[in-house]
Amino acid sequence: MSSKEFFDRVAPDWDEMREGYYSEDVRVGALAAAAVEKGKIAADIGAGTGFISQGLIEEGLQIIAVDQSEVILNEMKEKFARWSSIEYRVGNAQDIPIPDETVDYAFANMCLHHVESPPVAIREMTRILKPAGKLVITDADEHEFEFLREEHHDRWLGFKRSDIRSWYLEAGLGEVSVESIGSLCEVQSLCCEEFARIGIFVASGEKRAGR
Ligand SMILES: C[S@@+](CC[C@H](N)C(=O)[O-])C[C@H]1O[C@@H](n2cnc3c(N)ncnc32)[C@H](O)[C@@H]1O
Repeated sequence: MSSKEFFDRVAPDWDEMREGYYSEDVRVGALAAAAVEKGKIAADIGAGTGFISQGLIEEGLQIIAVDQSEVILNEMKEKFARWSSIEYRVGNAQDIPIPDETVDYAFANMCLHHVESPPVAIREMTRILKPAGKLVITDADEHEFEFLREEHHDRWLGFKRSDIRSWYLEAGLGEVSVESIGSLCEVQSLCCEEFARIGIFVASGEKRAGR
């Protein structure tokens, strides 16, 4: 099963599943790292059912939600049906269906560990930022819980913060910071006793002019 098929399948249950894995502190930390301003445009890449978008709506931003799974985006559409400030686009984080220099902020929560090439996805998210726009990625620190590949279709077992920092710099981002968000991702294996407790980082950077 591919990651897309996995998220198609779990789409109706994703909100409930996600609540068990990580808390709303992650959303609070991500939005704080970007210091979002009302009226600006944000992309939520790997939006799922809109965990990050929820906070962006509350802060009065316009949103473009992108996900590989049309099924999960349809769940999000239903959930936010009364909000006209969200556009939905099916697409890949490595080939984002948004023109260059369109958004003030790009967010990706727990998406990067699913993509084939994280540096390519970071370059893509940087491409869609306006000059001085901010990229905020929240994801798992490097870990050794192999069961997450099988049970959650994770492609990467988290990341070294030093790699994230290098990929941000290579993409043309400045003011780069990669820190702990202060809460954990916790997942019980379905098949064995293993219980994963994984640190979560928040990475932020600003697009330099001319990149
Ligand atoms: C762990 S879920 C996180 C969803 C949401 N950001 C949240 O915090 O609840 C990962 C999401 O990323 C999407 N995704 C995975 N790989 C992707 C890719 N290459 N391009 C676009 N979306 C992707 C999945 O379909 C899924 O909705």
